[in-house]
Amino acid sequence: MANLFPKSANNVPAQIALILGILAVTTVAGVTYYFTPKYTRVGYMPTQPVPYSHYLHAEQLGIDCRYCHTHVNQSGHANVPAAEICMNCHTHVQRESPLLELVRDSYLNNEPIEWVRIHKVPDYVYFNHAVHVNRGISCVECHGQVNEMEVVWHDQPFSMAWCLECHRNPEQFIRPLDQVYNLNWTPDNAEAHAQWAREQVVAWNVNPPQSCSGCHQ
Ligand code: HEC
Ligand code: HEC
Ligand code: HEC
Ligand code: HEC
Ligand code: HEC
Repeated sequence: MANLFPKSANNVPAQIALILGILAVTTVAGVTYYFTPKYTRVGYMPTQPVPYSHYLHAEQLGIDCRYCHTHVNQSGHANVPAAEICMNCHTHVQRESPLLELVRDSYLNNEPIEWVRIHKVPDYVYFNHAVHVNRGISCVECHGQVNEMEVVWHDQPFSMAWCLECHRNPEQFIRPLDQVYNLNWTPDNAEAHAQWAREQVVAWNVNPPQSCSGCHQ
């Protein structure tokens, strides 16, 4: 009588056990991986040397992001302002405030304030601010509602999957260029905006890289 099952079929239970075992190991590894510190960077909110408030300056006083982050739309790098920029106002406003002592020292001694850096991609990742903001991607997409923050925190994961989510569907994120620095903007008419965005992706030839060499040069 022909043997309907090959001999190795006797091993099927063992193989199933092996596959389940691999699944269990990768699940545990995956979970561990996503809970390692770089994936819990969301919410990172270090105490800064000067209690500078974006809520007060950017939202209540309405100062444009580019007044301080002067290079953000001109170069790859978004700079943090020098004390001179603060002193444009603080030679007149709150000139005696103890909260501004470090700012006055920095200005007089020409020594930079040691702000704690919050957002950073690893060295093997290439990132450029200007290409993003000049293609209608607002600060809010990547940094959250900074204009509402008393103290800045890390709002988005900055993982590879997160970058790619937008690179695959840029039409869901672009906005008119004159609203990039208005973090409170929402479209009046969502449908009309979606239509505009789809057309704009074509008109601007928006084609964010999805290949490895685009971000790892
Ligand atoms: C009056 C100057 C000023 C204005 C206006 C301003 N910022 Fe800032 N920004 C700073 C300073 C100073 C820091 C560093 C201290 C801190 O993190 O609060 C900073 C830090 C940041 C950071 C975190 C940088 C890091 O370390 O990763 C982001 C993001 C940011 N600003 C976005 C914005 C956005 C978006 C706007 C416009 C809505 C804006 N800023 C307006 C002065 C300013
Ligand atoms: C365009 C003008 C302007 C600029 C530029 C500016 N500020 Fe201010 N700042 C103000 C005003 C106005 C107030 C609120 C004054 C008040 O409430 O009496 C203020 C308040 C503050 C306070 C609170 C002071 C206190 O004693 O309550 C701090 C701290 C501060 N600013 C830090 C900074 C820093 C750091 C920078 C530069 C990164 C900066 N400011 C740039 C206008 C400015
Ligand atoms: C597409 C996502 C994206 C957008 C849009 C974006 N940023 Fe960033 N931002 C980043 C990334 C990524 C970093 C870390 C860059 C690095 O490590 O070189 C960063 C870092 C920064 C820093 C810290 C720079 C430093 O050297 O300390 C500031 C300040 C900043 N961004 C401000 C802004 C402002 C203001 C806007 C809007 C005008 C903006 N960003 C728009 C992704 C973005
Ligand atoms: C919210 C949307 C969005 C997010 C998030 C985003 N990007 Fe982009 N990216 C774009 C758009 C739009 C362009 C412009 C494409 C064009 O003009 O063809 C772009 C272009 C680029 C380019 C090509 C431009 C150049 O300078 O070569 C690189 C590299 C890049 N992004 C890296 C990143 C990295 C790294 C991250 C994550 C840390 C990121 N991006 C997050 C939307 C986004
Ligand atoms: C849109 C930009 C972008 C593209 C395209 C991209 N990467 Fe990445 N990659 C990143 C960012 C950002 C990180 C850093 C992630 C972090 O710090 O959490 C990263 C991290 C990595 C890492 C380190 C391990 C990790 O996950 O943190 C490897 C390996 C890697 N990328 C390989 C690749 C390969 C292979 C491709 C092509 C299939 C690719 N990347 C395409 C942005 C990109």
